[in-house]
This record gives sequence, C-alpha cells and structure tokens, in this order.
Amino acid sequence: MKICIVGASGKLGQYLVEHALDRGYEVVGVCREKSIEKLGSFQGRIKIIPGKTNDRQVIEKAVSGCDGVLTVLVPWGVHNYSSGTAQAVLDFAQPNARLVFSCGWHISRDGQDLYTKKFIWMLRVVGWLARLIRIIDIDDQVEACQRIFSSDTRWTIVRGSDLEEGESHGLPIWSQHVGDPVLKSNMTRRVDFALFMIDSLVNNDLIHQAPAIVGCQTPSVLSQTVV
Ligand SMILES: NC(=O)c1ccc[n+]([C@@H]2O[C@H](COP(=O)([O-])OP(=O)(O)OC[C@H]3O[C@@H](n4cnc5c(N)ncnc54)[C@H](OP(=O)(O)O)[C@@H]3O)[C@@H](O)[C@H]2O)c1
Repeated sequence: MKICIVGASGKLGQYLVEHALDRGYEVVGVCREKSIEKLGSFQGRIKIIPGKTNDRQVIEKAVSGCDGVLTVLVPWGVHNYSSGTAQAVLDFAQPNARLVFSCGWHISRDGQDLYTKKFIWMLRVVGWLARLIRIIDIDDQVEACQRIFSSDTRWTIVRGSDLEEGESHGLPIWSQHVGDPVLKSNMTRRVDFALFMIDSLVNNDLIHQAPAIVGCQTPSVLSQTVV
C-alpha cells in the first residue's frame, strides 16, 4: 500500500511514519521545507515533498497514486490553513483512497457530544486568546471538518483526547460521542493516536465515522471491562 502523510514532521506525524514503515507501506510525507531535518531518521526510507500543507500543487503531487492519505489537521494561523489542507486532500486524492484526518474532541459531527463545562470554558478561552494573537484559528479546523463530513470520499475523522507521550499501550478504545463514560479519563498516548489512524486505513467500519478515542489502559476503560 502506498500512503501519503500530510504533516509528517510533527509529533503525531513522525509516529504515523514509524507505524506505516513497520507495516511495510510505501510512504510519501509532506512537511514544511524548514522541518525536513526532523525526518532525518527516516532518510532513504520515505519520499518527502516539501511545502505548506495547504498548497494545492504540493498536495496534488504528494497524493498522486496513493491508496491512503493521513492528514494531521492543525488550525495554524488565521489564513485557512486547516480548511485549505482538507480541501486540497479531498480534491486531489484518488477517488477510492482512504482518507483519515486528525482533530480533537471539540469537533462534533452531529451535535450529540456532551462536554463538561470545564472543557467548553477552556476551549472558548484558548480559542479566543489564540485567535487574538493570530496563532491558531479553531473555527477553521471546524470548517475543515464540516467540508470532510459533507464529502462523498471514504473519510474518517479521528478525534483525539488530551495527549501524552510514552510507550504504546495498544489500540485506543473509541466511542461515537464525547460524554460516553468510557472516555472519561480523557487521555491517550500520542503514539496510540497514530496507531488508531494507521489502523483506520484498513478498517472499513470506520468509513464516514468520527470516532472519539481514549487510551485502552486508562481508568475509565478498565473500570468498564467485564472480567
Ligand atoms: N496536542 C493535544 O493535546 C491534542 C489533543 C487532541 C487532539 N489533537 C490533535 O492532534 C493533531 C496533532 O496535534 P499535536 O499537538 O500532536 O501536534 P503535532 O503532531 O506536533 O503537529 C503539529 C503540526 O503542525 C505543523 N506546524 C507547526 N507550526 C506551524 C505553522 N506555524 N504553520 C504551519 N504548520 C505548522 C507542524 O509542522 P512542522 O513540523 O513543520 O512544525 C506539524 O505538522 C492535531 O490534529 C490536533 O488537533 C491534539
């Protein structure tokens, strides 16, 4: 299988590259020119296409011939970086390619997610502050996901909980909606977020789903496990 990883040089992206190579996939990575050195340990094992992830020509070249595209959706800046990236992937990926995108729990597909007051408050404050200093535009990540939800491509949007570093615990558990008690621990190892995205490439049950994930060893999962 040939796959493209859009945003390959970030923390999540590098885990995606590792998992993909472990599975023997042919990997094309997209990252900013200045970040190529972050992928030095993969030299000779992946093809890198430098450029901004919302550059349509870059994405058209990178996804050509790929059976799957994994996209790290980040709401950087205030110039439609996230929605531009998502739109380019939707427009140029092969018609039958599996498309898997990352985002956070704050994205809701159907409005049925139940958030704590603390979560909503934090999101509002962080979103407002970040937009004020023009670093991040969370609304643009929301727009990106709306475009994906309404597309007829074979998409999955993986919604990550809070993240931590550390060794893999295994494939995260998922639920359709935030608010499900199984997700209460709100913590996933970043390496396992990547594992879930890679696994989604070959899991057709996740097509047109927006799984909200949590680590499989977290207290909220373990307390629900029937012995
Ligand atoms: N962090 C969390 O706690 C958390 C929680 C839930 C979900 N998520 C989701 O997880 C995904 C990855 O998040 P992460 O926090 O782990 O980040 P990450 O993997 O470190 O990814 C950051 C990405 O953004 C790029 N980037 C950084 N600064 C940029 C700029 N100024 N302009 C354009 N691109 C820039 C990085 O590229 P370079 O390598 O070129 O810098 C990298 O590809 C996102 O979809 C996020 O919504 C994160």
